[in-house]
Amino acid sequence: MFAVYAEALHPDDPLAGLALGERPEPDPPEGWTTVDVKAASLNHHDLFSLQGVGLTEDRLPMILGCDAAGVDQDGNEVVVHAVISTPDWTGDETLDPKRSLLSEVHQGALAEQVTVPRRNVVPKPASLSFEQAACLPTAYLTAYRMLFTQSGLRPGDTVLVQGAGGGVATALVTLARAAGLRVYVTSRSERKRARALKLGAHEAVDSGARLPTRVDAVMETVGAATWSHSLKSLRPGGTVVVSGTTSGPDPDSAELRRIFFLQLRVQGSTMGTRDELRGLTGLMDVTGARPLVDRVLPLDHARDGFTAMAEGDLFGKVVFTV
Ligand SMILES: NC(=O)c1ccc[n+]([C@@H]2O[C@H](COP(=O)([O-])OP(=O)(O)OC[C@H]3O[C@@H](n4cnc5c(N)ncnc54)[C@H](OP(=O)(O)O)[C@@H]3O)[C@@H](O)[C@H]2O)c1
Repeated sequence: MFAVYAEALHPDDPLAGLALGERPEPDPPEGWTTVDVKAASLNHHDLFSLQGVGLTEDRLPMILGCDAAGVDQDGNEVVVHAVISTPDWTGDETLDPKRSLLSEVHQGALAEQVTVPRRNVVPKPASLSFEQAACLPTAYLTAYRMLFTQSGLRPGDTVLVQGAGGGVATALVTLARAAGLRVYVTSRSERKRARALKLGAHEAVDSGARLPTRVDAVMETVGAATWSHSLKSLRPGGTVVVSGTTSGPDPDSAELRRIFFLQLRVQGSTMGTRDELRGLTGLMDVTGARPLVDRVLPLDHARDGFTAMAEGDLFGKVVFTV
């Protein structure tokens, strides 16, 4: 079958190890199902994989991709949950110390077929297209858990989303608006700030600029470059939810004095559970909110999507059709 995979790892030149071509069809173990992929989407995780973050040489070649929507062996239209927990794990899958994401240990979703444990598929609402549904399993699920499980935010509260153009960031803006939050965003790019306003943000400011008011919570995926601004933007007792460090994991200062004196809460967040993925599909179905898609490409043009992400030239998700 046709697939997009990593054949080598290059920390400084991720695209050098990217390959497109034939890979063996999956051979699902007992209790797993094979999904005919209709659409799949790209995440920063795929670039990190090509750099050797979360992926080791001994697992190559590895089909990339965490996100897919398609049709399972029983003919159901499904969305794939990308968090693979150990078979006997019960409860919150993201807390399983041995969990992995598709494409880290098991072959990923940028292919004509992907195989996953049966419990890792949830029904796709008829109101969502395969392209829209393929955006949900990583960026939108991560945003959903950050906003609705980890932040303590309630409708009417105010939230800051750092780095407006990213896949998770645009998901955060869309879901926060759907849930009745006041949304501020930052971006280094004037064009991206304008697009964030169009997407539904109430205010958009330059990265690092002062906000109109302090916020109840900050959604942080940029990391070192925005950490200090995130802490300074919080009201006393506010929460910063961290799920990524695109600009690096080590800020100049952790600013511990500010954290204890203002009684700030720092909350990590990773992906989401299958139940949260069901909640997310339900939220989209009920509210009519839709994932923001930057571009749709056929899977055999995947290199163009990877290049655009590596250059930071995106606003929303890159979707591949199969
Ligand atoms: N924990 C989890 O489960 C989980 C799940 C999904 C993603 N993540 C992580 O979340 C992060 C975002 O993922 P993504 O797929 O949304 O990536 P993405 O689409 O590539 O997002 C990148 C965004 O980060 C901002 N950015 C990058 N470098 C910056 C800098 N030096 N200063 C300020 N802003 C900068 C940019 O915002 P502007 O250009 O608008 O300024 C850009 O739009 C990644 O680190 C990813 O690994 C974690």
